[in-house]
Amino acid sequence: MTARIIDGKAIAKDVRAELIPRVQALGKRGITPGLAFVLVGEHPASVTYVKGKAKDCAEVGIESETIRLPEDTAQQQVIELVQRLNADDVWHGVLVQLPLPDHMDEEAVIATVDPAKDVDGIHPQSMGKLMRGLPTYLGATPHGVQQLLVRSGNPPDGKHVVVCGRSNLVGKPLAVLLAQKRAGANATVTVCHTGTPDLGEMTRQADILVTAMGRAGTITADMVREGVVVIDVGMNAIPDATKKSGHRLVGDVDFDAVSEKASAITPVPGGVGPMTRAMLLVNTVIAAEGGPDSQ
Ligand SMILES: NC(=O)c1ccc[n+]([C@@H]2O[C@H](COP(=O)([O-])OP(=O)(O)OC[C@H]3O[C@@H](n4cnc5c(N)ncnc54)[C@H](OP(=O)(O)O)[C@@H]3O)[C@@H](O)[C@H]2O)c1
Repeated sequence: MTARIIDGKAIAKDVRAELIPRVQALGKRGITPGLAFVLVGEHPASVTYVKGKAKDCAEVGIESETIRLPEDTAQQQVIELVQRLNADDVWHGVLVQLPLPDHMDEEAVIATVDPAKDVDGIHPQSMGKLMRGLPTYLGATPHGVQQLLVRSGNPPDGKHVVVCGRSNLVGKPLAVLLAQKRAGANATVTVCHTGTPDLGEMTRQADILVTAMGRAGTITADMVREGVVVIDVGMNAIPDATKKSGHRLVGDVDFDAVSEKASAITPVPGGVGPMTRAMLLVNTVIAAEGGPDSQ
């Protein structure tokens, strides 16, 4: 079997296109969706991510502003900035780009974002609501993975999904999302991590395998069964002398070998990444429409 490629770029394009009429409808009510980014320091990947997100916003008619603060900013100053953005009606969403510098307590800053503006879906209230199956902002990456499955014709319903990774950003919320009792979810979910004694024993049982470990090449062909659907969230830079940058991006899965056994697989790059970006826009439009309870 040679796997069908799940084209994240094309699916993300569809998601963005669906937002245009919603943004236009908001415009008719005099509302322009607004998203404020808070970027502390010069972390190169973070700078690139925020630039990309701001560009995506412009493409669908979301107004955005990036407020940049130096690396040595006091935590209290970031908290006060977030509080000002919370209080400003121009901004329907407030996103603090992570990671924050080491001297800051990330949890304290995240908790300062108004849950009504938590379009990143990482506030404890958003995650608590997800756990209880209540309407809330879903994290962009877990939501993106779920949408990739549904929109590529591989719905998780009734399937055994094995998630490798249990981070607050990806693995944990994804597992909760896919186990919910509703269409587009309703999966039996197994979560693996570094405490899993035999990863292969678990991954071989997957109808759908989602990898979010940040470990290049961890999933080899002998660790999957014929016909598995693979969503590779991992993004790992590995040395590559043929590239100008000296490196290239790969996932957690040995793509070439696993493609021979899988029925469908996401590439890296071009799989989950574009969907993560698109789902942030979805949350921002939802925020401008009145929040998750309004949907
Ligand atoms: N494409 C996108 O849009 C996107 C978005 C977000 C993240 N990512 C990428 O996804 C990856 C994961 O991100 P993250 O933020 O979730 O990372 P993270 O916070 O470092 O979490 C990694 C998780 O993987 C587990 N893990 C690591 N090595 C493992 C192994 N050998 N066997 C089993 N489990 C293992 C860890 O287990 P323990 O809990 O036991 O330590 C942890 O739960 C990264 O490569 C990141 O760049 C991509």
